[in-house]
Amino acid sequence: MCSCSFCIAAFHLLLGLWILCPSFTRTGRRLKGLNLVGVLPVEFANLTQLQELDLTYNLINGSIPKDFARIPLLKFSIIGNRLSGEIPPEIGNIASLEELILEDNQIRGTLPKTLGKLIHLRRLQVSSNNIRGLIPQSFWNLRNLSDFRVDGTNISGNIPEFIGNWTNLQTLYIQGTSMENPIPTAISHLKNLTQLVISDLKGGTVKFPNLSQLTSLQRLVLRNCLIEDRIPEYIGSFNDLRILDLSFNRLSGSIPDTFQNLFVQQETESMFLTNNSLSGQIPSWIAVISSRNIDLSYNNFNEGLSDFGCTQSNNINLISSLSAKSKSDSWCQMKDLPCSREPQRKQKIIDTHTHLLHCSLIVEEEVWSLMVVYMKGMILKVGKQVSLSHHRNGVTLQLVVHC
Ligand SMILES: *[C@@H]1O[C@H](CO)[C@@H](O)[C@H](O)[C@H]1NC(C)=O
Ligand SMILES: *[C@@H]1O[C@H](CO)[C@@H](O)[C@H](O)[C@H]1NC(C)=O
Ligand SMILES: *[C@@H]1O[C@H](CO)[C@@H](O)[C@H](O)[C@H]1NC(C)=O
Ligand SMILES: *[C@@H]1O[C@H](CO)[C@@H](O)[C@H](O)[C@H]1NC(C)=O
Ligand SMILES: *[C@@H]1O[C@H](CO)[C@@H](O)[C@H](O)[C@H]1NC(C)=O
Ligand SMILES: *[C@@H]1O[C@H](CO)[C@@H](O)[C@H](O)[C@H]1NC(C)=O
Ligand SMILES: *[C@@H]1O[C@H](CO)[C@@H](O)[C@H](O)[C@H]1NC(C)=O
Ligand SMILES: *[C@@H]1O[C@H](CO)[C@@H](O)[C@H](O)[C@H]1NC(C)=O
Repeated sequence: MCSCSFCIAAFHLLLGLWILCPSFTRTGRRLKGLNLVGVLPVEFANLTQLQELDLTYNLINGSIPKDFARIPLLKFSIIGNRLSGEIPPEIGNIASLEELILEDNQIRGTLPKTLGKLIHLRRLQVSSNNIRGLIPQSFWNLRNLSDFRVDGTNISGNIPEFIGNWTNLQTLYIQGTSMENPIPTAISHLKNLTQLVISDLKGGTVKFPNLSQLTSLQRLVLRNCLIEDRIPEYIGSFNDLRILDLSFNRLSGSIPDTFQNLFVQQETESMFLTNNSLSGQIPSWIAVISSRNIDLSYNNFNEGLSDFGCTQSNNINLISSLSAKSKSDSWCQMKDLPCSREPQRKQKIIDTHTHLLHCSLIVEEEVWSLMVVYMKGMILKVGKQVSLSHHRNGVTLQLVVHC
């Protein structure tokens, strides 16, 4: 943290250098992570040779000057600053723009429809801002997009069907918005997708979207999307899959046999299926794989892993995964944990820099295995007995144990 006048001076010095030496200013100009304070200098608008402006992770506030539309930028990135105000519609006039990356600021207002003119745009990332409203219809034009992210905004309405025409798309992040079901059927055309990450859709229940052609997927997250269906078998043949999160839906039926491929032959790292209505048998191969994160808690499986004690593995969460009528040697696998002693409270501080973390707590000689997915300042998923509170250095995880 630096809020000294030196930094302001340094900022102006650098600016001075740019203005004096235009050859400096063409490409690769980065001013990342320098704790620069102040506002975006309107003088930058006169840097008519500037192609790249990357001010990632500084402390810049104020708004984006509309005069910036005069800069022939290819890339504009201000991730992790304190910018407020709205996105000036004039930004849509920077015809050369290929990357517009505004993540992690306090930008308000809607996505200007003029951005639909930016046909060269490859990356459009506005996550973690106070942006609201719909995705403009004009965006059908953005066919060169390979990376589109609107996580943690209050964008609402449907995911437009026209994204099926963004055939270069590799990364789609729509987590924690106010958007609604259904997921457009045209998503099945996006064969180049490697990261499909959608959560918390509102509206009615839907079937599982047809992703059978999306064989390059590495990260497939459809969490809390009101999906009422069975898990498609074809997912088990996605050999590049690393993370699968289908938790908090209404998935029924069993875990497809094809999933053995992901964990025994391939190297899938994580599978989160917590809080669904999955039944059948908990697959026996789960007991033999190691160092993978598997969360099957809060389901309706009929048969557990009989010799799987509650202390056996740190990476596998089977808490309350079995239906009430099933039999198991491990009490902690049973639905509605059958115990009634005084609740205990345990605390642990979690490092917020870790994206995916797993922690175990020892409570009365049992290791309670809990997985918490933490990403970009948002808690995405916690188990029933856990509450979390944010504070300066991380997150306090409080476990309330009911037995
Ligand atoms: C930009 O350049 C124009 C013309 O050279 C000049 O009139 C104007 O004052 C400059 N603006 C800023 C903010 O430096
Ligand atoms: C920017 O932050 C500084 C303090 O760092 C404050 O004095 C100034 O009013 C802020 N400006 C705007 C436009 O928010
Ligand atoms: C789209 O991207 C391709 C490959 O990156 C490039 O050749 C093409 O010119 C781009 N089209 C537009 C309209 O920018
Ligand atoms: C987000 O948008 C929805 C729908 O437009 C609205 O009902 C809700 O109040 C907004 N939430 C916030 C935090 O602004
Ligand atoms: C997708 O592109 C095709 C071909 O250009 C066009 O006919 C169709 O209307 C587009 N779909 C949407 C939903 O924009
Ligand atoms: C998908 O990616 C491959 C290789 O990266 C590329 O050759 C192909 O054109 C892309 N497909 C589409 C529909 O963009
Ligand atoms: C999914 O799409 C593929 C390819 O277009 C098609 O063959 C298959 O029948 C579809 N599956 C369902 C369940 O609609
Ligand atoms: C499962 O999800 C439902 C709906 O999101 C929620 O009400 C319930 O508390 C969750 N159950 C657990 C054990 O997390």
